[in-house]
Amino acid sequence: MAFQSPKGTYDILPGSPFLAVRDGLLAPSVRAGYAYVEAPVFEDTELFSRGVGASTDVVTKEMFTFPERGLTLRPEGTAGVVRAVVEHGLQRGQLPVKLRYAGPMFRAERPQAGRFRQFQQVGIEALGVTDPALDAEVVALAADAFTGLGLTGVRLLLTSLGDPACRPAYREELGAFLAGLDLDDATRARAALNPLRVLDDKRPEVQALLVDAPLMVDRLCPQCTAHHEGVLEGLAALGVAFEPAPRLVRGLDYYMRTTFEFVHDGLGAQSAVGGGGRYDGLSEAIGGPPLPGIGWALGIERTVLALEAEGVSVAPEAGPAVFVVPLGAAAKAWAVAFVGALRTAGVATDLAYGDRGLKGAMKAADRSGARWAVVVGDRDLEADVAQLKDLTSGEQTAVPLSELLEQLL
Ligand code: HAM
Repeated sequence: MAFQSPKGTYDILPGSPFLAVRDGLLAPSVRAGYAYVEAPVFEDTELFSRGVGASTDVVTKEMFTFPERGLTLRPEGTAGVVRAVVEHGLQRGQLPVKLRYAGPMFRAERPQAGRFRQFQQVGIEALGVTDPALDAEVVALAADAFTGLGLTGVRLLLTSLGDPACRPAYREELGAFLAGLDLDDATRARAALNPLRVLDDKRPEVQALLVDAPLMVDRLCPQCTAHHEGVLEGLAALGVAFEPAPRLVRGLDYYMRTTFEFVHDGLGAQSAVGGGGRYDGLSEAIGGPPLPGIGWALGIERTVLALEAEGVSVAPEAGPAVFVVPLGAAAKAWAVAFVGALRTAGVATDLAYGDRGLKGAMKAADRSGARWAVVVGDRDLEADVAQLKDLTSGEQTAVPLSELLEQLL
């Protein structure tokens, strides 16, 4: 029996928009000075249980862990990036430390449309500064990432989750409110673990019970209120539209203050194409110094699905510009050297391998997407010429070999 890729994984094949989408999503962040970092795909298990949060589904149910080694495949990128920043003392240099990354993440979730066990994210993190204008920049760079690819249907949901000064009292208030409701046992257990998670319950009958639930945004301390207002001013200045989402709950525990998610309505149940927020306590939670931070990660697969849902096409990788077709042994020897010279000169070039006849080789030239075909027979060589064919117009001219390279350049 032939093997198949493991459940919840997939192959990126030629013609895929993957690279263009990955690089397109990060392009605005490159322009804003976010430098490339790459951390390992596995880290000490405890980095994630302490960083992401021991009560989250991600940590309790979805980690790919090698217990005998104490290592886990990263379920997300933020904990590893903050670990790297602290380990190398980047926070002692210029602030904010602005970083971007891309790569595979691993979560043992039940696979379905838009949900994989190995999936790809791009992300940015800005560390070392608590400035609402920076929050606005970070959020705007994600909004620009989607619009830059041509998407128009991505909505931004944004709220503030408060901070250690105001969230504990709110949490208690919400817990007391939930205790007075007629909830099932599973939901009660969830409320005991983290009452905020209950606010996100999708069931209409639960939502009906929650209409009068107290909301964090109405209970922010003066510092969090001022910060939130600063973020909203920054977003207005940058022309970024958002929807207030006072019941937004994220699947990772490290968030405080500014918290957001990007959703697309053409994706069904897995509608989140990206998310992020401020995580000022994360560094200390993993044993580092106090180090505020904010960032996001965007899902590449779901972005590709959103592009498909909107009918927006993204150009796959460019093929060769020139395709060389040798006919005969002497022509083949010349062609091999000529292709090498063109590539050295910086021209993307391919060759008809396999000693096919003219018809098959020209079909390959057309399929390659090249603009120009160079066709050489042994008799052309004797006359010191090659046939240069414009594959868009079909026009063909004999060009002296000595001028061919120059002309193609
Ligand atoms: P997250 O919301 O867990 O945040 O993931 C970000 C995005 O990754 C999601 O919105 C979704 O598009 C994609 N994603 C997540 N899980 C899957 C999956 N199983 N299959 C396909 N796509 C998926 C984070 O990971 C945080 N580290 C973001 C962050 C950075 N916060 C601050 N800085």
